[in-house]
Amino acid sequence: LKGIALSVWKYAKLLPVDRKPITIQEGGTPLYKCDRLAEKVGVRELYVKHEGMNPTGSFKDRGMTVGVSKALELGMETIACASTGNTSAALSIYGAKAAVPAIVLLPEGKVALGKVAQALMHGAKVLSIRGNFDDALELVRELCDKEKIYLLNSINPYRLEGQKTIGFEIADQLDFQMPDRLVLPVGNAGNITAIHKGFKEFKNLGLTDKVPQMMGIQTEGSCPIVKAVREGKTDITPEKNPETIATAIRIGNPVNARKALIAISESNGGAESVTDDELVEAQIDLAQLEGIGVEPASATSVAGLKKLVETGVIGANESVVCVTTGHLLKDPEEVISVAPKPIVVDATMEAIRKVLY
Ligand code: F0G
Repeated sequence: LKGIALSVWKYAKLLPVDRKPITIQEGGTPLYKCDRLAEKVGVRELYVKHEGMNPTGSFKDRGMTVGVSKALELGMETIACASTGNTSAALSIYGAKAAVPAIVLLPEGKVALGKVAQALMHGAKVLSIRGNFDDALELVRELCDKEKIYLLNSINPYRLEGQKTIGFEIADQLDFQMPDRLVLPVGNAGNITAIHKGFKEFKNLGLTDKVPQMMGIQTEGSCPIVKAVREGKTDITPEKNPETIATAIRIGNPVNARKALIAISESNGGAESVTDDELVEAQIDLAQLEGIGVEPASATSVAGLKKLVETGVIGANESVVCVTTGHLLKDPEEVISVAPKPIVVDATMEAIRKVLY
């Protein structure tokens, strides 16, 4: 594998697709070494794997390139998903590329603007559901059961096969010297399961000598997985009314919860929740200390890391990779509401000097 450019399909031999893939050059995202942020949160070594640098600006493209390729291999003629936004953007773009009609179900009023724009522009049929994500997922599952429509939520195992390449790339980018911890946001709990699988596969192939401890982060208003980990349970109690500004992970009944809890316990990992205020602080730190622009859900990884260091769960001597799952431009409305405001001045040099000096 040496010498081949980083991307999802670099690892084609480890992916279950037997046809020419539907690809828009997904994966190959940067792994930034973040020394200023490391110092601020208090760990020896911190890297950020910025999944916002994928074609639609989130890690969902990795799952969708594999999932949609598989849909074609299986002869499926329509694809669908429920989504908090990013999955719908990815489904829509790969549907367009593959010339397969796509249907997406979104929770009305709770999807960030950039994501809705993508789903609409790339041509999916967008249904805005008067309900939350969990309602939308239940409905799309029923629809796909009854009609000949291929379901591409992360219950679909091929989605997770694509997303495991995040784990492969991290290993590749670190010369197979694995970090102690992998910290990431958790919503429907597919990605933590997928990355853990990727890490395990590389270890089983003898390419690496350890699997990082998987640390899942949620928000306080939407954290069924964190509660299950705290209580030592193997399954979650669904939350009826999850609420957070991190709309991407506003999910009360994650479908992959059981698998995620196994990934956490097998890797001797953990879970933590953060407040909306804490994630906004981390979002600003990423933007202003490291030049990494992320959407709110993605910033929970760094906010969670900070909390885990403060509470002594993660030691100052550890090496950590945080995954930032989606790009800043996904949710411009949230960014405008938390970022510094522009200074309005008259169109004169005098007025400009006055506010600058
Ligand atoms: N971060 C972002 C930006 C997301 O969009 C999601 C999930 C997650 C983290 C959580 O990943 O579900 O695998 O635990 N978004 C889904 C969607 C639910 O519909 O776009 P997960």
